[in-house]
Order: sequence, then structure tokens, then C-alpha cells
Amino acid sequence: MITYYKEDNSFYFETKNTSYVLYINEYKHLEHVYYGNKIERFINIREHILRYEFELGSSTSYSKDSKGYQLNNLLLEYSTFGKGDYRTPSLHIELPSGHRTLDLVYDSHKIIYDHHFEKMPQAKKTETLEITLKDLVNNVEVKLYYSVFENNDIVVRNSVIKNFNEKPITIDKAMSGQLDFLNNDYQITKLDGAWIRERHISKHQLSKGIISFDSKKGVSSSDHNPFVLVHDKTALEDYGNVYGCSLIYSGNFEANIEVSPHNLVRLQMGINSFDFRYQLDKNEQLITPELVLSYSSAGFNKISENLHSFIEKSIVKQQHLKERPILINNWEATYFDFNEKKLLTIAKKAKKLGMELFCLDDGWFGRRNDDFSSLGDWYYNRKKLPRGVKGISKKMNKIGLDFGIWVEPEMVNKDSDLYKNHPSWAIEIPNMKPSLGRNQLILDLTNPEVTNYLKIVLKELISSANISYVKWDMNRNFSDVFSQYLDKDNQGKFNHLYVLGLYDVLEDLTSNFPNILFESCSSGGNRFDMGMLYYMPQTWTSDNTDSYERMLIQEGTSYLYPLSSISNHVSGDVSHQVLRHTPLESRFNVACFGVLGYELDLSKITPFESYVIQKQVKYYKEHRNLFQYGTFKRINSIYDSNIGIWMVMNEDKDEALVLYYQVHSKPNPSFVKIPIKGLVHGTYKITSREQYMNVRDTGSLVNHVLPIKLRVNGQILNFIANRYKYKEDTFCKTMTKAQLESSELLLHHTFTGTGTNENVMMLRDYSSRIFHIKKEKQDEIKQ
Ligand code: GLA
Repeated sequence: MITYYKEDNSFYFETKNTSYVLYINEYKHLEHVYYGNKIERFINIREHILRYEFELGSSTSYSKDSKGYQLNNLLLEYSTFGKGDYRTPSLHIELPSGHRTLDLVYDSHKIIYDHHFEKMPQAKKTETLEITLKDLVNNVEVKLYYSVFENNDIVVRNSVIKNFNEKPITIDKAMSGQLDFLNNDYQITKLDGAWIRERHISKHQLSKGIISFDSKKGVSSSDHNPFVLVHDKTALEDYGNVYGCSLIYSGNFEANIEVSPHNLVRLQMGINSFDFRYQLDKNEQLITPELVLSYSSAGFNKISENLHSFIEKSIVKQQHLKERPILINNWEATYFDFNEKKLLTIAKKAKKLGMELFCLDDGWFGRRNDDFSSLGDWYYNRKKLPRGVKGISKKMNKIGLDFGIWVEPEMVNKDSDLYKNHPSWAIEIPNMKPSLGRNQLILDLTNPEVTNYLKIVLKELISSANISYVKWDMNRNFSDVFSQYLDKDNQGKFNHLYVLGLYDVLEDLTSNFPNILFESCSSGGNRFDMGMLYYMPQTWTSDNTDSYERMLIQEGTSYLYPLSSISNHVSGDVSHQVLRHTPLESRFNVACFGVLGYELDLSKITPFESYVIQKQVKYYKEHRNLFQYGTFKRINSIYDSNIGIWMVMNEDKDEALVLYYQVHSKPNPSFVKIPIKGLVHGTYKITSREQYMNVRDTGSLVNHVLPIKLRVNGQILNFIANRYKYKEDTFCKTMTKAQLESSELLLHHTFTGTGTNENVMMLRDYSSRIFHIKKEKQDEIKQ
């Protein structure tokens, strides 16, 4: 709820558990008063703002009438430069005369309903507060927008900057918003990474000065996600004050967390001001991307829960909030080396194992047999697909699978018909040799000719066959940034206009094909952000499918993104990214927390693997809703220990799934208990997922397991290992909610080197278990 109190010039935003308070002060500057747990209205708001009574030595006072009024020492809602606030400003503009000082004061406000910014990804809003700030001397207007998402404890805000001068102004920096507050020895948590190690959790202590992170890569990038948490030093998953901040944007962004000499924190995020010069002619405006804020005094898990639910309810297109199909992808199975027969063999096996959708990955078009050619030529390769996309899609459908296709529309290879016909459509600087990424160039999406062409070509492709899924890839970062379409004065707009061009194409496609499931990908997770999720409800999380690496990546990703957006595949052995061998059951146990797929050559798997995969797929289908849409909690971080524990719970809080993942085996270890919190009262049955071990992994111990003696690595053992289903320990207990909470879930002990039976967990390196916790039926009847 948004309330304006005229008597004390204040605005209150209220969500289920939080309040956010603003105040228009005596100089009409917009001050930030409070953001935290829900409070009642202040009796005298002036007692709650920061004000010095006197000038502070060398400080700059805003007015001769009040020496203690120094912008540098206030909590402000949207700061500019030049009037004494020396912290990093949210807005920095060059005015027609050449000066760069701006003084924005409150002009008016109104409440608007169902507000929507054209051609931008954004939250679906109901009630929005629009506050107009003006610099009347310099003819610049800034509108601040605030929307409240009550049930998710979220406040969304952004800014729109407009020029009323006859001559152009140049924006050098325009943040979406800022959050000023008093420091309390806070730390920050952010998600850093690189290709195949995306979104790793990193923590830093705040101290005087600025921590700044950004992307200059043209995409939001895996270097740093556009996301940060500012929190108590002592905050834990279920304890402590945490402020969350992230951006609905897919391009170059910037995040700054500054601590001023007077210990005030300024947190701000927006389009990267680096390599950004945005000229506005008279009456033109710049709309900044939306910033998403959340607060909780109940730790990290609650912030994640707020953000997950917000993304699903207010960002993602609602028709996709249904169970997502289990996919088989041919990339790691074949790379570029495939033909129709090979694909159909994999597909038939996939169908047999219970999978539902075939994604034909890279290599189906033009003359594409490696990554040197054909991007841009979106017509089928006759050698690989003699009957075209239509032909193969029909055959897939006949097998009983849905059909999806990989595209990388933002790109062009020099070796392509598209480049030959339209060289000026590629991003490169005339007379300079372009730097390449994966041998390819990026198309200039600031040019409407290019975006219109893409819309036509992609619509043709998608309508040419029965396609129900599209994997939209983007495999290189920007270099040689220059548009042959934009004039000289507008080159500084390039990075942002590119993103708007991309959004324009995506808006067109997703509204023309509202029921097609789009999955965003950028060499894995190089563009995992809320901007992309607005158009495409799921993202290929990482090219790294090793189960241990995925524990790190998915734990980090889960800070912000819901399970339904996290796409995971089970790949073959060994991992193509780190050459590590981890059990097939663990590869599944980690991948099933999110949207599941498989990416291996199913035509070459053993009968043992077939049996195991079939069981996995069946289990996933039985619990798909929970795995994709349940409330996710991190119970034990794999970053801090040898064990990672995750839990996902249903909305009624009477059913949960728990993952227990061990990094390394420890000799003669102690017992382990898992704390299970949040279930409703009742009696619960806890069962482990039925898992199987390949007896080859027991080495010479196999002779103690099987009734006959065999030579290790011998042909007979291999024959048996490929077929024999050695069932791992089984776990079945009944406990009440109180017992689960107080005495916790005691697991079977792990293998100690002296013997095994069905009550011993044979956990090797990278082994894991899944436990299903469900309220007993009788219990429901008794109540
Ligand atoms: C990227 C993707 C992969 C695959 C290849 C194909 O690397 O992340 O999943 O689609 O491109 O070239």
C-alpha cells in the first residue's frame, strides 16, 4: 500500500512485513527516512531524519539559512552532483551551457494504476507512485516511480529523465535508484563468476570508500550478476537483517556500494555509466530499468523466497507458470557431428526413458559443421536434415516427443550469406580489424532494419514446423563497439539501444508465440537476469554440468532466481568441463532442483544407466511441481563445508524434498542430522529416493558384494557392472513435526570401511541422497 500524509509531507510504502518511508523536506529535497520491518506512522517525522545543528568544519551547506543542512550528510532518494553531496551521484548530466550541477526538488506526485513502460521488461504493477522532481533553472525533470508488491515484501523503483531545454543535454550517468542508510558494520554478498563457474557466492566487508562492480561486456554477464545483498555481519540463512537489490536489465550495468566518511551507506544500481553518453534532445526522455528492493530481518532464505515469488508472479509471463517438460538436448551427445538418423536414435531412447522434449542444438543450419560459419543463415542444412526442420519435427512428434530448436539470432559469422549481403549490419569499426569471440560478430540491434529482419526470419522459422521450445543463445561479449547506423553523437547510446533492440525482437516474438517456451542461454549463464526472464521463463544455468560445480553454481543462483528459472541437465561421465567423475545419481539429484533435462548420447548408455535414468525421470515426474515451484531453502552451504543441504517445500507446508550432498568421503565419520523446519503439525513419513550404485565403483570390494568372485576390470565384471542394479541404502522413518524440528532428521551412518548393509550409506566422493518428507494421510483424517 502507498500512502501520502500531507501533514508531514511523507510517503509510506507498506508490504506484509516491511515499511519504506520518504519525506519531502523544508528545501523540497526528497529524503529517505526508513526501510525495515513494518512500523506505524512516525509521530513526528522530523525526529527521524539526520540533521546536524551546526556546520561541520569544511562541509558544504546547501543554504546560508541552515548551516547544518548539508546534502552530503542526508539520506537521499535520488542524488545529483554539484550542491554538496560528494558521494557517488545517481544522476550526472552535462547541461547545454556545459555545467554539470543539478538541483532536483519536489514538484508534484500522483498515484497511477497498471503503469507500463513501453518496450522494456518490467514488473507487472498495480499501484505506482510517480513523484516529479524538477530543476527549474536547468529545465530538467526527473520522475521517480515506486511500486509495492505487498505479499513479496518488494519495492520496485526507477527513474525517467527528461530534457526541456531547447538544446540537447548529455546524461553521463543515470542510475535506476539508490538506497541510503546508516551503516551498521554491514557486509555485502554478491554473485561473481566466469564461464562454467557462474554466480559463485562472494562476501565482502563494507568499509569507507566504494565497492563497485559492473559489466562492460554488453550482456549482464557471469562476471557479476546484477544483484547484491547488504546485511548484518552475523546474518545467516534464517537470521539477521538483509537488504536485497537487483536490476531488471540484461546489458551493461553498474552497482555501487559506498560508505561515506560519516558512515552513511549508499547502494545504487543502474545502466553502466562507463562507455555511456546519452544525449537527450528537447522533450526526449531516458527510461532507466527497474530496480528491485527487498528487506527482511529473517535472513537470506527469506530474501530469496521474496525474490523467487516476485519473479514468478510479477516478472515471468504467467502462461509459463506450469510444469516444464523434461528435455533431451543433443549438444554434448553429438556436438556438430550429427545427422537425422543419429538424432532420431537418441530421441527414441529418450522417449523410452520418459523424456518429453527434444532440443535440436547448434549445427542444424547453413553450412555449420564447426563454429566458424553460418550464424545468420537460419535455413536448414540439407545434408543433416534432408526433410528440413519440418521433417525432423514431425518425426520427433511421431516418436512422441515435443520438438525444440537452438538459435543464436544476435550473431553473424563472416562466413555467412547474411554477412555477405549486409556487412554493415555487423558491429565492427570500418578500417579496423574486429576482435572476434567464438569466431563471430554481433549484429547491430540498434538498427531497426536488423531487428525487423530478425523478427521476420525467426517468425518464419518458428512457424515452419511444430516447434514448442526455443533455446535462444548468445555466445560472445561485445568488442569494437560501433554502429554504422547511429550517427556520431549517438554512439554513446549504443550499449543501451542494443539491449532495447533485443527487447523489441523478444517482445515481438514472445507475443506472437505466447505459448512457446523460450529458454535463454549465453554460453551457459552469461546473461541470467530478470530482464531475460521477463521474456523467457527459464535460463540455461551453466555449460558446466558436473554435479559438484553445479552445487556451487545453483546454490549461488538460488539467492535470487527461482527454481522454475534454473535449467539443469544430467550429462555423461566424465564431465566435459572439469573431467570429474561423479555418480550418475548425484548428477540427477542436483539437476532435479529446477527444470530437468539430459544432455548425453543416450544411444550409447549401458543397461544399468538406462534403468537408473528411467527411475530418475519417473521420480522427477512424481515430484515435478515441488522441484520446479516449491519454496527453496538453503540449509547447509557447500561453500562453507563438506556437505551441501537444500530443501524444497510445497505451499501447504506438508511435503518437502531434501538434498544431502557430500563433497569428499571422510574416514570413520560421525553421525549427521538435518534440521527440518517450517512444516505444519502432523506425522511425517521420510523416505529416501531409491538409488543405484554401479558395482564397478566398489573396486575389489565387489567380491564381497556379489555371490561370485570376479577379476577387477575384467570383462565379466564389466559385463555385470553394466547390468547389475546394486540398490543403495534405504531410509524410512516416521516422525512428528516437533521431532523433526527438535531432534532433527538423523541419517544412517556412512560407510566406515568395515561392512555394509541397507542401513549404511555407501557415500563416496560427490555422493548424495534425496529424502522425501510427506505428511501421513491418517494424520489428515484425524485432524
Ligand atoms: C553455447 C551453449 C551450449 C550450446 C553451444 C552450441 O555454448 O551454452 O549449451 O548450445 O553454445 O554452440
